[in-house]
Amino acid sequence: MLLALLPALLAAVPLVLGGQVPIVDGVYGGVRDNASSSKGAVKLADLSIAATTPGKIRAVQNTGVCETTPGVFSASGYGDLTSTESIFFWYFAARNNNDTAPLSLWFNGGPGSSSMIGLFQELGPCRINNASSAVTLNPNAWNTNSNLLFIDQPVGVGFSHGTMNVGTSEQAASDVWNFLQIFLSDSRFSSLQSRDLAIWTESWVFRKLHIEELSETDNASSYGGHYGPTFAAYFLAQNAAIAAGSISGITLNLKTLGVGDGLTDPLSQYPGYITYAGSNPYHALVSASTISRANTSWLSSTGCKEQITACNNGGSNSVCSKAQSFCNDNILSPLAGNFDVYYVLATNPDPYPPDLTSYLRSIQTKIGAESTWQETNDQVYDNFAATGDWMRNSRPDLESVINAGVRVVVYDGDADYILNFNGVEAMVNNLDMKFTSILQAQAFQSYTVGGQVTGQFKNAGTFSYIRIYGAGHEVPAYKFGSLAYGQAALQMFEQIMANQSLSAT
Ligand SMILES: *[C@@H]1O[C@H](CO)[C@@H](O)[C@H](O)[C@H]1NC(C)=O
Ligand SMILES: *[C@@H]1O[C@H](CO)[C@@H](O)[C@H](O)[C@H]1NC(C)=O
Ligand SMILES: *[C@@H]1O[C@H](CO)[C@@H](O)[C@H](O)[C@H]1NC(C)=O
Ligand SMILES: *[C@@H]1O[C@H](CO)[C@@H](O)[C@H](O)[C@H]1NC(C)=O
Ligand SMILES: *[C@@H]1O[C@H](CO)[C@@H](O)[C@H](O)[C@H]1NC(C)=O
Ligand SMILES: *[C@@H]1O[C@H](CO)[C@@H](O)[C@H](O)[C@H]1NC(C)=O
Repeated sequence: MLLALLPALLAAVPLVLGGQVPIVDGVYGGVRDNASSSKGAVKLADLSIAATTPGKIRAVQNTGVCETTPGVFSASGYGDLTSTESIFFWYFAARNNNDTAPLSLWFNGGPGSSSMIGLFQELGPCRINNASSAVTLNPNAWNTNSNLLFIDQPVGVGFSHGTMNVGTSEQAASDVWNFLQIFLSDSRFSSLQSRDLAIWTESWVFRKLHIEELSETDNASSYGGHYGPTFAAYFLAQNAAIAAGSISGITLNLKTLGVGDGLTDPLSQYPGYITYAGSNPYHALVSASTISRANTSWLSSTGCKEQITACNNGGSNSVCSKAQSFCNDNILSPLAGNFDVYYVLATNPDPYPPDLTSYLRSIQTKIGAESTWQETNDQVYDNFAATGDWMRNSRPDLESVINAGVRVVVYDGDADYILNFNGVEAMVNNLDMKFTSILQAQAFQSYTVGGQVTGQFKNAGTFSYIRIYGAGHEVPAYKFGSLAYGQAALQMFEQIMANQSLSAT
């Protein structure tokens, strides 16, 4: 566990047991005073350093780590964007029909958190045991019927290494696009070019992109009220540019987007902290007086609501960064009380899901990884915190992706505080999309798996929302009632991947 690390390392690695959102000076998602100072810093490759091959994949195959189902292909290694920017990936072929199965991408959030969290704690072919010493095969893995690609991004995160130039989701999306162009050009993976593509994200990564911020200036006018697309919308825009002949590249057949426990629209979502801390399916998290103070911080004339609004109305990096700092200091952090922000049924810190650090360091050479794994990279986080990306509104981008015909599911575990269902459902209710009137006419229906109730859901056209009972932030890591770990999440995943609305079984 992280507690065993040297004090020197503690200074560099935020203490986020099972968590993904860095704690800065005791504040969840806080902003360090010198947050902009890491841009351009380099995370070194410090193990078995290999020569990079810009524009190409370097990978080891079928290492037998994690996926031990006979005959299921896997590969891990790097896509080198440049000679000094290497993105780590781990690909698992579908256990069934990999030659026709779609391709799903998995991204954890943070920002700065490794997608190995999802792989080993949630939905990958194997799961870490409680002693953090070994893994066991996951019968509810998402590569059952889909090919599955985990990506450690941006550069510097997880096992990825090199120069950390990314400070916005726009820059991240561009690097991910470039990585996928490299990946799908490799002869081992080129058959996946024609498959349907899905993006699945957790927590933070589905965020606003700022096209004009590509200039990397910290300048209010550089936003100019022009907000670009999200990862998904970026792919669609790049596809359109390919179709128009203005760029060349491989079209990505984006058909599906899954957003789990995500921060999409802070203005809609921050009141959810106040609601959830006072009343949720389990227990109040703090006293009435703490809730009242947070409510004042939300509503006062210089409070969180005003600051997010100013950020969303073309606010500068500095306005948005200050809003993040104020709201997380005065609302998000104090309202968690003594409970684990990712799973309120446990006091903080919940040792579950088990820490990955020692296990991942033990396999890194075998899987072709070249840098020391960290759950969350502080410098990458700081680069984003400095742009205030956190507080920008990506709901319009979600709406445009839905309206473009991509099937979208938003899901949330009801024991998660940090992206609680009150906030997520407020965001969903505020969606202004082509299925809005259908959604507003829907009542929740019980979600069952083989007759066991495990949540509640709504469908509207190709949009679905589901609240999953008993699940914390990392939804597939939990179980409910008579169901196994991740069983409800797998049913949701497979229904959506089959281009079906959610349905009880
Ligand atoms: C930023 O400040 C922290 C203390 O808050 C310090 O540990 C760290 O070294 C500083 N980083 C830089 C790049 O100055
Ligand atoms: C599909 O599975 C076969 C058999 O394991 C393997 O040879 C092939 O490389 C896999 N292809 C992809 C793209 O997953
Ligand atoms: C692992 O820990 C979790 C949470 O503490 C517990 O619910 C579960 O039963 C444990 N699993 C095993 C196999 O002991
Ligand atoms: C801000 O942007 C404007 C317009 O692009 C530019 O003229 C100005 O120099 C920039 N200021 C800074 C401090 O970068
Ligand atoms: C927050 O303050 C407003 C205005 O005073 C009040 O109407 C509301 O009930 C308060 N909410 C909570 C949860 O205390
Ligand atoms: C998915 O289903 C929707 C609604 O039934 C349909 O319009 C769309 O064409 C389907 N997409 C694919 C890729 O089959």
